[in-house]
Amino acid sequence: MEHKLIAVASDHAGYPLKQHIIGYLEEMGYRYKDFGCNGERSDYPVYAERAAKAVASGECCCGLLFCGTGIGISIAANKIKGIRCACCSDAYSAEFSRLHNDVNMLALGSRVVGTGLAVKLVELFLTTEFEGGRHKDRVDLIMELDAGKEI
Ligand code: RB5
Repeated sequence: MEHKLIAVASDHAGYPLKQHIIGYLEEMGYRYKDFGCNGERSDYPVYAERAAKAVASGECCCGLLFCGTGIGISIAANKIKGIRCACCSDAYSAEFSRLHNDVNMLALGSRVVGTGLAVKLVELFLTTEFEGGRHKDRVDLIMELDAGKEI
């Protein structure tokens, strides 16, 4: 995912961690687009929607979301068709969310994970490839649910 555009977004609670991760992305040469907020008190679904739509449309390859817990902003992002967003606070989940679930967005809680762990989770998210195979069949079923079909 290195040479593609990464969507980033947060509410006010996630803003400090978003800024830290933006520093990491810049240092590593990743390209990103920040969909807000700019630190002001705000409602996380607004920023989840902006970033998730950019991922769903293909403008961005994937996305990083931040709020206090990572939970609210991940729930909101998952309401956008085409989005598979995982809220992670451990390395195993971040890695397997890519290997088995082909997630296209990662949500982190700034009140849950420290900056060092957050960088590790982002690194795993950005560098781990989807395994495909039997996992693709399951992700395809998820996307049928996403399309409103009964499985
Ligand atoms: C804001 O206080 C907080 O509720 C929000 O950042 C997030 O944690 C919600 O899930």
